Order: sequence, then structure tokens, then C-alpha cells
Amino acid sequence: MKVKILRQLSPDSSPYWEIFEYDGPLDNSVAGVLDYINYHDDISDVEGNATTRIGWECSCLQGMCGACAMVVNGKPVLACETFVRDFHGKDIEIRPLRKFPVVHDLMVDRSSIHENLKAANICIGEYRPSEDTDFEHQYTAAKCLKCGLCLEVCPNYVNGRSFYGAAFANDCYLVASRNQSKSRMIGEIYGRAFGRDCSKSLSCMDVCPVKIPTLSSIARLNRLK
Ligand code: FES
Repeated sequence: MKVKILRQLSPDSSPYWEIFEYDGPLDNSVAGVLDYINYHDDISDVEGNATTRIGWECSCLQGMCGACAMVVNGKPVLACETFVRDFHGKDIEIRPLRKFPVVHDLMVDRSSIHENLKAANICIGEYRPSEDTDFEHQYTAAKCLKCGLCLEVCPNYVNGRSFYGAAFANDCYLVASRNQSKSRMIGEIYGRAFGRDCSKSLSCMDVCPVKIPTLSSIARLNRLK
């Protein structure tokens, strides 16, 4: 099986494709495939040319940290939760997320997600019991990994400078549900950075690895206005 990877050695260098041969286990995840290719000291491409280790990020390897988000065979996914067997013998094409600046190969800079939350002051702050009793929805929304997959598929999210995307909307809901004194402020920033420009494609919900029902968060936030 061939593994084609879009590489970029530094933020300013040009991207290029490199192809590797994968002859490891078929029950491996895509994260496992990257590890397998990187394992040896002497790494070579499919034509035997010496090359460097592939840059990519992971931490948990169990779908809990979001670090391994990338585009595999055209679909934005978590590499550790995507399995070779599901490609039924087809070659694999891997590229970094397109909505974030590339740092190195498959590693991207997703700091804009956190910078936007910080700039909008969307944080729970001091602990207080929830004032909203919809605990199940709060629990699910709180699972957001900030992996960026929802932003990758969003037709309205470009570079995060004016439209902040689904990850932001879910955090707005969480904070508003815990602190009604912030509702007015959150309603205002939510409207400006999300509500006004969301076209409700809801593609974010299709790719969310923890299945956050963002539409429910949106409905609850719209009631704040
Ligand atoms: S490594 Fe943590 S989600 Fe994949």
C-alpha cells in the first residue's frame, strides 16, 4: 500500500508530495502508519530516496486530545481513530488541515481557537454550580477537543479572524449555562463572532469526533438575545 503525504518542512517553505510504501499491519490506525514509517533511522520514500521523519502531533492515541487531526483521503479525521482496514486496500493520502498555518508537515498552528476564546473572554472563571439544568448537553459540549475538524469543514470559517466557528459557539453555550450574569456579554459576542455569519451547513456536526450537537448549543444561545 502506498502512503502519499503532503510535506512542508517549515512554515515558509513550499509544500510537496512524498510517497512511502507501507507494508505493516492492516489493523493499524493512520497514526500507527505514521509511526511505522518514522520508526527507522534510515527513512526512504517509495523510490528509495533518503528523506526525513514526518512531522505530526499526537498525545493520547485514543481520540481524547485532538492533536492528531489531519485530512486523510479527503476527509478531516483524527489519525488515531482512522483505520487502514477501512480503506479496503486503497492507497492513503494524508495532508495537514487547510484552515490553519502549517508548522511542519502535518502539524498546524491551531492557537487561533484559543486566542479567540481569550480575546472574547469566554471562560468559566470561578467555579459555580450550573444555573442551567441541561447537564447532559453541557457534559457533551464540554468534551470539545479543540481539534479544529469542525473548522476545517466549515464553509464560513476562513482564518478565524472574524467568524470563530463551532468550537467557539459551544464554549459560549457552556459559559452562559454556568453564569447567567455573563449572558448579555456572551449573547453580544456570540452574535458578532458566530451567529451573524453561520450559514447552518452543520458540516461541523458530521465530523465532530465527540459528536457535540452544536445545533442545540446554537438554539440555546439564540435564546440569549
Ligand atoms: S492522539 Fe489524541 S486524539 Fe489522536
